Amino acid sequence: MKNLRIMQSLSSAFSLHTPLILTTPTNNLFLQLRTLRFSCNTTQRSNKNGSFPFSIQRGKRLTNRLQALKHLSFSTSAMAKSKFEYVRQFETQDPCLPNTWIVIRLDGRNFHRFSTDHGFTKPNDERALQLMTRAAETVMNDFRDIIISYGQSDEFSFVLKKSTMLYSRRASKLMTHIVSQFSSSYVFHWAEHFPDKPLQYPPGFDGRVILYPSNKNLRDYLSWRQADCHINNLYNTCFWALVQQGGMTNTQAEEKIRHTFSADKNEILFSEFGINYNNEPEMYKKGTILVWKRVEETVMKTCRTAEDPVERPRKVTKLRKKVVPLHTDIIGDVFWEEHSDILEDECL
Ligand code: GTP
Ligand code: MG
Repeated sequence: MKNLRIMQSLSSAFSLHTPLILTTPTNNLFLQLRTLRFSCNTTQRSNKNGSFPFSIQRGKRLTNRLQALKHLSFSTSAMAKSKFEYVRQFETQDPCLPNTWIVIRLDGRNFHRFSTDHGFTKPNDERALQLMTRAAETVMNDFRDIIISYGQSDEFSFVLKKSTMLYSRRASKLMTHIVSQFSSSYVFHWAEHFPDKPLQYPPGFDGRVILYPSNKNLRDYLSWRQADCHINNLYNTCFWALVQQGGMTNTQAEEKIRHTFSADKNEILFSEFGINYNNEPEMYKKGTILVWKRVEETVMKTCRTAEDPVERPRKVTKLRKKVVPLHTDIIGDVFWEEHSDILEDECL
C-alpha cells in the first residue's frame, strides 16, 4: 500500500512531464516509473493492429500502469532494477589513498620484437623516442592533473598531483584511461614519426599504479627510472658498438661486457671506438622529462583599447600552459629547485 500511494502521487507528475527531484530510494522508483512510461509509449507506437494496450483516458492509463508495476513487484526497500542487479556488488572500489602521489607507469608490450619488426635503429631510435614523447604529451594535455612525466625506452611514468580528485582517485579508472589514451595516441601519431614504415600490427602497453606518500619517495622513484635509463643506455651503447663497429657476434659482445663496471664500458667505448659517452645525446642518456611551462603566446583578437575605442583585430599576448620536454638530470637538487612548484602540489 505504501508503494501504491507513492506511485499514485508520482504518476500525476509523469503525465505533466514535471521534473521531479527525489531522494533515493524513491528516486529509483521515479526512474522506474519513467522507464515504464517510455516502454508503454513504445508499445503503443509499435502496435500495428490499432488496438492500443493503454487507454488514452488518464484514469484508465494510470490503472494500467499501476497494474503493470504490480507485476514488477518491487518495494521501496529493495529497488533492484532486475533480479540480476545484485552482481554489481561484486565490483570493487579501488580508490587511491588520499594525499599520496599517484604514479602510473606504462610499458610497451613485447617491444623487443616490436622494435625489430619496425626496424628501430639500435641502440636508440630517435623517431621511436619522439613518438613516445608525443603520445605522453597528448596524455598530459588530456589529463591536466599530471604534473610531471618521465619516459625512456618503451616506458613512461605519469605523476598525478597529490590532491587530484580525478575519477575520485579510482586506480583502475585512472590507469586504464591513461594507458589507453597513450596507446591510441601512439598509433595516431605513428605516421608522422615513421612516414616510410607502416605500422604492422597494433602495439600494446601494460600499466600499473604506484602510490608514494612522501616527496622523497617520489623523487627516489624518478631517480630510479633515470638511473635505469643511464645503466641500460651505457650497456646498449657499448654492446652495439662492439657488434656494429667491432664486428663481434651478440654472444661475444655480451661476454666481453658481462662483468664490467660503468668506467670499463666508458673506457671500451673511448679506446676502441673513439666514442666519448658524455657526448652522446642527452635524450638517450637522461630520458625525457615532461613538465608544464607558462609560455607567452601572441594571438589575433578583435577588441578595443583604452586609447582606441573602435573594435579591430589586434595582436594580444597571452600566457598559456604548455608541455615542454627536458633531457636533464632529475636525480640532483638543481632540477627540483628550478621546478619547486611540482613538489608543492600546485597544478599550474
Ligand atoms: P615486456 O615489457 O615484458 O613486454 O617486454 P619488452 O620486450 O617490451 O622488453 P622491455 O620492456 O624490458 O624492454 C624494452 C625493449 O624495447 C628493449 O629491450 C628494446 O629491445 C626495445 N626498444 C625500446 N626502445 C628502443 C629503441 O630506441 N631502439 C631499439 N632498437 N629498441 C628499442
Ligand atoms: Mg616493454
